[in-house]
Amino acid sequence: MTGTTNFAKRLIAWQKRHGRHDLPWQATRDPYRIWVSEIMLQQTRVTTVIPYFTRFMEEFPDLKRLARADPDRVLALWAGLGYYARGRNLHRAARLMLEQHGGRFPRQFEDIATLPGVGRSTAAAIAAFAFGERRAILDGNVKRVLARFFGIEGYSGTKAVENALWERAEFLLPARDVETYTQALMDLGATVCLRRAPLCGQCPVPKECAAFATGRSAELPAARPRKTIPLRDAAFLALLRKGEVMLEKRPPTGVWGGLWCLPELPPREDAADYCARQLGVEVVEVTPLAPVEHGFTHFRLRIHPQVARVRRLIPRAEQPGRLWLDLEDISGAALPAPMKKLLQALGRT
Ligand code: ADE
Repeated sequence: MTGTTNFAKRLIAWQKRHGRHDLPWQATRDPYRIWVSEIMLQQTRVTTVIPYFTRFMEEFPDLKRLARADPDRVLALWAGLGYYARGRNLHRAARLMLEQHGGRFPRQFEDIATLPGVGRSTAAAIAAFAFGERRAILDGNVKRVLARFFGIEGYSGTKAVENALWERAEFLLPARDVETYTQALMDLGATVCLRRAPLCGQCPVPKECAAFATGRSAELPAARPRKTIPLRDAAFLALLRKGEVMLEKRPPTGVWGGLWCLPELPPREDAADYCARQLGVEVVEVTPLAPVEHGFTHFRLRIHPQVARVRRLIPRAEQPGRLWLDLEDISGAALPAPMKKLLQALGRT
């Protein structure tokens, strides 16, 4: 492969001068901290992750504390970050490590890669950052960098393109300083080799970049072939009583599994009937609000908020899995982001 001899060297030099050095998961070799950060960063950007990471570390400073935590507490700390399977897997993995590795983070790449929620790229990042191991990463940002640099055509979600990219990623690995190199690739992807309007003027390897040379940065990498993502509709009830709103704990599987949410109104149910029968409240003036859309990985959810004032509670036994949240406390509550947004808008009206 041509033009690659100095790739790692240039990236390392660039990282030292222009890369990020003050992230809260840097300047440590603690595989636990690195692992948690890499999981949070899988689908979420750095600025969003930082406060979540900080809170998580305060409450669960080490593997044992996380393994022994109440799963609900882990999910509550995850609320708002999205992709909740990551939080559930993190907790499962911590328990596994306590049971199978005596509470120690595995040292072998192969063992790290089999932890729930940890794929090849994440395992490589952990092995590089925590143990200085020479392993190639290939997350979404790095795919973009390499597809441009090598002028690789085709959508990187296909096996053939992905294999080609892995091959390049392995090939480029430097003999040493793999930690800085790994961080350099991440930083370059996040701050210079941007998806739209990349800042090629700040790139350390513009001369060797195939996309730059041919003026094709805007076309590479190829976009995901359009497939229609199904749209689902669901009504959610905002039941208001004395400045409070009712929340319900979601079933453990499915959308927002295990999180506190507005109660969902099953399809074809009448809101007032359902409230009386299932939620133990008599409501007045059920008012639909404009729908709000939220994108999940495999579908879009169109949320139809139904706001209703509660006239009285129908006397019945204490209901587990329900609670009333003061509208003033919404910003600090552990809720999925779209729910929080919706309730904040309600609180302002
Ligand atoms: N994205 C994934 N891992 C990262 C890291 N360690 N630092 C910054 N961004 C990242």
